[in-house]
Amino acid sequence: MTAKLLFQLDTDPHPSVFDTVVGYDGGADHVIGHSGVTPESAGGLVEGAIFTRGAKEKRFTALFLGGANMAAGEALLDAVRGKFYGGFRVSVMLDSNGANTTAAAGVALLAKAAPLAGKRAIVLGGTGPVGMRVAAMLALEGAEVSITGRKLDKTQAAADSIGKRFGVQIAAIEAPDDAARARAAEGCAIIYAAGAIGHQLIAQADWQSLACVELVADVNPEPPFGIGGIAANDKARDYDGKLAFGALGIGGLKLRLHRACIGKLFEQNDLVLDAEKILAIAKEMA
Ligand SMILES: NC(=O)c1ccc[n+]([C@@H]2O[C@H](COP(=O)([O-])OP(=O)(O)OC[C@H]3O[C@@H](n4cnc5c(N)ncnc54)[C@H](OP(=O)(O)O)[C@@H]3O)[C@@H](O)[C@H]2O)c1
Repeated sequence: MTAKLLFQLDTDPHPSVFDTVVGYDGGADHVIGHSGVTPESAGGLVEGAIFTRGAKEKRFTALFLGGANMAAGEALLDAVRGKFYGGFRVSVMLDSNGANTTAAAGVALLAKAAPLAGKRAIVLGGTGPVGMRVAAMLALEGAEVSITGRKLDKTQAAADSIGKRFGVQIAAIEAPDDAARARAAEGCAIIYAAGAIGHQLIAQADWQSLACVELVADVNPEPPFGIGGIAANDKARDYDGKLAFGALGIGGLKLRLHRACIGKLFEQNDLVLDAEKILAIAKEMA
């Protein structure tokens, strides 16, 4: 049997332990981590992956691109793909900061609970890597999406970046506190909290009093949660007609999804798993 080798190219000073563990749990026989990888330094690593095995065995070598910074991960993915040509390629997955798998799991669960197309959605704390992927995926599902951040310039830059990468329109709203975020959520059917760990972004009374709200989701696993009044393990829990998803309720699918994506890398030698394909897999699994 040809060994399944997963090369973990991480843009951070240390390869993510989380991603290493999931690499093994996803089916790799060996996970080999490289840290501090940049578009400039990736070339030799990619050559080693694409030139070593014959056509039939190439699918047993795969690349996982990670690190805390999604922009760095996206630049690395571009550089890696730039080295591929003809049959000289291996499958590659981008999941910097777990942003693709975390966002896809949550959006897939929401899409299973209710149609998203044509609905107004707001992503609170939408300027981080997870929130930006959530906003993109909600927009790809046909929702009309806004993101909030505490400062307009950063929020607008994030919205522009999502628009450029995914060809979607995202509105940017400056909302420095819970009250401003509650005002921003008026008229929205979907509230998705993707803020930094351990910070509430909207109070319980504020979202529960909005008749328009149908779905709330939160990926912050540490109290206080991003959405006030929900529980971490909520999974389509009904709060007076509004369905809530907490970080652990989403996290179970996130982990299964991450493992399943790793497994798929070894099925062919030309798969590129980024937001769109990872969302499609999540929707099949949800
Ligand atoms: N369940 C899972 O499997 C999983 C996996 C990965 C991440 N996560 C969780 O997903 C969430 C988002 O991750 P991330 O890495 O994208 O987050 P992040 O970059 O740390 O934070 C997201 C945004 O939160 C805002 N923020 C920071 N401090 C704040 C404060 N005191 N009050 C209000 N907003 C604040 C910032 O936006 P502005 O500066 O623009 O306001 C920031 O861009 C985190 O809670 C993380 O723990 C879960």
